[in-house]
Amino acid sequence: MKILHVAGARPNFMKVAPVMRALAARGATSILVHTGQHYDEAMSDAFFTDLGLPQPDVHLEVGSGSHAAQTARIMERIEPVLIEHRPDLTAVVGDVNSTIASALVCAKLGLAIAHVEAGLRSFDRSMPEEINRVLTDQVSDLLFTTSPEAEDNLVAEGIAREKIHFVGNPMIDSLESHRERARSSNALTTFGVAPAAYGLVTLHRPSNVDDPETFRRILDALLDVSREIPLVFPAHPRTVKMIGEFDLGVSVSGSSLAVVEPLGYLDFLHMMANARIVLTDSGGIQEETTILGVPCLTLRWNTERPITVSMGTNRLVGTDPDAIRREALAVLAAPPPPAARPPLWDGKAGDRIADVIVSQPERRTKEATRAGR
Ligand code: UD1
Repeated sequence: MKILHVAGARPNFMKVAPVMRALAARGATSILVHTGQHYDEAMSDAFFTDLGLPQPDVHLEVGSGSHAAQTARIMERIEPVLIEHRPDLTAVVGDVNSTIASALVCAKLGLAIAHVEAGLRSFDRSMPEEINRVLTDQVSDLLFTTSPEAEDNLVAEGIAREKIHFVGNPMIDSLESHRERARSSNALTTFGVAPAAYGLVTLHRPSNVDDPETFRRILDALLDVSREIPLVFPAHPRTVKMIGEFDLGVSVSGSSLAVVEPLGYLDFLHMMANARIVLTDSGGIQEETTILGVPCLTLRWNTERPITVSMGTNRLVGTDPDAIRREALAVLAAPPPPAARPPLWDGKAGDRIADVIVSQPERRTKEATRAGR
């Protein structure tokens, strides 16, 4: 069986790695296509190295651009690759532009698609990722879900139950298989912080960093929190660009809010595992902190990962600066009780995904699904 995997942006790499590994163990052939949506060493190569991912077989080098330009470039460049390789199945992961762009091309070519991390919904269509999620799920033939409510979301959108497989969370597979190695990271020493004596921050959502007023208010709240506990803030390139554009660097310099370069997978994992508190607008970090048992405040009004709130350490605090300050101080005063592990977040999602894939009759996936529609 020949499976083509598409990866393009930082949060894709840790989801692709366990699936490829599990498929290799079952004798399937994998072809890895990197779209080039993320291209900086710190946003891409560092993750390939840390995760032990093979070099991509094909690199589309699409780079940055508007949503339309980036999506269109991926579509144009991946079409000939798909025609050449004619995979039995194309696996797309997550909710980035690379995900929908490649899924759409497969759908038009009549090629079978598996979506890993299907059915997550924030119900907020102003998020570009929500559009990508809904549309990718609509054209997918196999939908692999990470948490139980995802199936209800998919069924409510008219997706047949037979296509949906609840397999657990491949991002947690990567976390579990790298947890030990991450312990030898020197990141805490590099940033001069001690275990459980610092907070970790990430922000990159356009809704938080692209508007100067919103971003300034969030930064003000973070500066207040940093007077209680030092904060390390590995900043995404988009965020760095906005700090420059909005001239926010001055308010941060000399403070205990250290804006640093993006970290590799192992260093970031180590920093998360040892943090007293994490403040973020990322999706994946809400999941990782749940498993690490580290309190997470999500600076968004909604989440497509509600299980991290109902079972995990995550709390939605929005972007109101008073709420950020209040909730952060409450966590520092009394950390919440340990979280439960969501079902099937056990490090074996890649195996379950590979078992389903290899049990599909070769090349019949699409026809079988069509017949069931
Ligand atoms: C993308 C995903 C988002 C994900 C995030 C993780 C979409 C719609 N968004 O957002 O869901 O949470 O990745 O990081 O797919 N840039 C660089 N170097 C890079 C990559 C980006 O400098 O290697 C800069 C460029 O200025 C670029 C900007 O970051 O224009 C945004 O990159 P883009 O891939 O468009 O979106 P992200 O914000 O990274």
